[in-house]
Amino acid sequence: MALAVIVLAGCGPQVPQEVSSPADAEKITGWIEGMSLEEKAYFVTGTGMSGFGLNTEGFVSSPGAPVVGQTQSLVPGAAGTTYELADLGITPMVLADGPAGLRISPVRPGDTATYYCTAFPVATLLASSWDTGLIARVGEAMGSEVLEYGADILLGPGMNIHRNPLCGRNFEYYSEDPYLTGKMAAAMVNGVESKDVGTSIKHFAANNAETNRNALKTIVSERALREIYLEGFRIAVEESQPWTVMSSYNLINGTYAPENHDLLTKVLRDDWGFEGFVMTDWFGGRDPVAMMNAGNDLIMPGLPMQAEAILKAIKEGTLDVAVVDRNIERILQILIRSPRYKGYEYSGKPDLRASAEVTREAATQGMVLLKNERGALPLAEETRIIAAFGKTSLEIVTGGTGSGDVNEAYSVSLVDGLRGAGYDLHEDLLERYRKYMEAEKAKLPPVKPFMPSKPIPEMEVDILLARRAAAEADVALITIGRNSGEFFDRNIEDDFNLSVSEAAMIRNVCDAFREAGKKAVVILNIGGVIETASWKDIPDAILLAWQAGQETGNSVADIISGKVNPSGKLTATFPIKYGDVPSAGNFPGRMIETEKIDTAGNDIVASFMNPRFSEVVYEEGIYVGYRYYSTFEVPVSYEFGYGLSYTSFEYSNLVLSSDKFRNRLTVSIDVKNTGEVAGREVVQLYLSAPSGGLDKPSSELKGFGKTRALAPGEVQTLTFDLTPRSLASFDPSLSAWMAAAGEYTVKAGASSRDIRQSSTFSLAKSIKVKEESRALIPTETINELKH
Ligand code: BGC
Repeated sequence: MALAVIVLAGCGPQVPQEVSSPADAEKITGWIEGMSLEEKAYFVTGTGMSGFGLNTEGFVSSPGAPVVGQTQSLVPGAAGTTYELADLGITPMVLADGPAGLRISPVRPGDTATYYCTAFPVATLLASSWDTGLIARVGEAMGSEVLEYGADILLGPGMNIHRNPLCGRNFEYYSEDPYLTGKMAAAMVNGVESKDVGTSIKHFAANNAETNRNALKTIVSERALREIYLEGFRIAVEESQPWTVMSSYNLINGTYAPENHDLLTKVLRDDWGFEGFVMTDWFGGRDPVAMMNAGNDLIMPGLPMQAEAILKAIKEGTLDVAVVDRNIERILQILIRSPRYKGYEYSGKPDLRASAEVTREAATQGMVLLKNERGALPLAEETRIIAAFGKTSLEIVTGGTGSGDVNEAYSVSLVDGLRGAGYDLHEDLLERYRKYMEAEKAKLPPVKPFMPSKPIPEMEVDILLARRAAAEADVALITIGRNSGEFFDRNIEDDFNLSVSEAAMIRNVCDAFREAGKKAVVILNIGGVIETASWKDIPDAILLAWQAGQETGNSVADIISGKVNPSGKLTATFPIKYGDVPSAGNFPGRMIETEKIDTAGNDIVASFMNPRFSEVVYEEGIYVGYRYYSTFEVPVSYEFGYGLSYTSFEYSNLVLSSDKFRNRLTVSIDVKNTGEVAGREVVQLYLSAPSGGLDKPSSELKGFGKTRALAPGEVQTLTFDLTPRSLASFDPSLSAWMAAAGEYTVKAGASSRDIRQSSTFSLAKSIKVKEESRALIPTETINELKH
């Protein structure tokens, strides 16, 4: 067999090639003709993962074995590679995570150079900026690192919907809203790919929980799929045509995503015109032949048994070789655009300083000011000493765990960021934290690679300690930290809800500082939504800093010092309590094969080796996030789209290009800075559809825009386009997007519940906007569901 062994190499082939399309087509045909059957079967599977414990059946052999980060080949620490076919001149491709920056090994044996990458802010923070231009710039910076470290495809962005706040990977995803998700992902893909490297939008589709993720049967209505779970992917495909798509682990209406022809062929290619190739998530799916037929072109990371199964099926005539050829062709179409194939001589030295600057700035744009009373923020000019409470003040969480983690060279803690901004810290308090944290950490079991470490409990802060600090410091900052990552969903206790010691810390510190005539500010260093309703009245201000990447401390300092005026707004609702979440009753699903439980717990290894199926029914249908809370008038703690500024804005002059919708309608609105400092405002455009016909959410996001930094008194006009698609809902009985006739209300809001201006237009006759394939039709169970 002529499959070349991949060896550690400094760079790709030396001869750059610029080839035109017909020549490419001819070359690709020639390559496929030149491959043996065996080469074909191996080429559609990846090269595996060295250092990864596999038993003879090719599955994980030991609990805790790391799933990624072990591909010690072309780019150490990358998640995987494709085969090189040296005789034909086919170069390998290196695929590396992930959404918050390139994930590779920072050091290599026998090499004094380092290969650190930038930990950019997590996706939810980026989306909270509502600034597609900014996201594209972050993407460009990420793409440069991918290119200069010799990778070909970045395994991101992640773009699943925040169906439930407990999903352990929500930080890797943008929002509960598909329109916003799609726009953000498209901007990110276009940014990264402007550097001539690829992306992989993931995880396609409806991968909204981590628990038992390899054997989770997701049951969801066609309408909810089209309008909520697929819509972001559609927008990203149509607006950025990513090089690749990564299929998800779960089953969708009975079929594994990578084996799902409806999903990967009918929807992705026939309906949306996707032109790249599809790869599995790592070890996703079960039947390699079904994957080939479904249009899952590449199986990652690839196991010899999968290639052998494909080879056998071809030989036995149960798999048409033309199917495999088609998949190979799709992979090769991308391969010829890859930097390694083109012979790009990567430097190993991306401009990390420039990336750090983008990170620091981007983070400030996505942080959300949730509360600001008594003029707490920005900190008064005379502020000198800050009392920093909360263990996370010293050990900031820059991003989540798992493949979404990055090996960065440094991270700026909150304390360091504050010092850098010229503040002094209450040193006795810090010293107390240091000693406490050291002692608590010593009690913890060793951290498993790739897995989140068990958090140490928050230090008890009683009123006496708080008072001592209040006597000496000018202001208190109280940091609440959270971390999570793949394989696990979050818990309600001590995670979604504050722990008893966190709640006591907030109460005692705020009381003590208020008694002393001083202020207290809570900083939320979290990756997903938490409960805020029970304690938000207590502090003077709350800044949602998210997990803001390696510059987190500097970015927080930029905001609280007033150097940057916050302008982020929420991309997910903060409910009053977990029980209010529309999917609270059916997340993350229930085990349906309990009799197969023969290994302890519900761990990943067990589900790889012996899947025990669980099932989750998306009973809430299209009523996800604000679509539910607004339509059913459920009170929330902070609504979708909410966020404060140090200044104020006035909206006026909402103008529609017509009061009758034909093919397009333009909406414009003036935004004026009516406060005293410069600032940016995010304007959201919601649409309420006429009643009758399909039931509709009370309003849906159909556009958004962000002003430039407006000086006090300055006005900017923002414009938005509404297309037939903006008016349409998916009607499963017609398998089509239909815009209903009647009167529509356009609402320009500072949030989903703070509508500042509105107007109406009418549509004379209903329009069939687009007919789609009949696909992904659920079982009878779901047909009983309304939405
Ligand atoms: C994750 C993917 C990731 C892949 C490769 C999987 O465990 O779900 O998001 O890209 O590993 O690291």
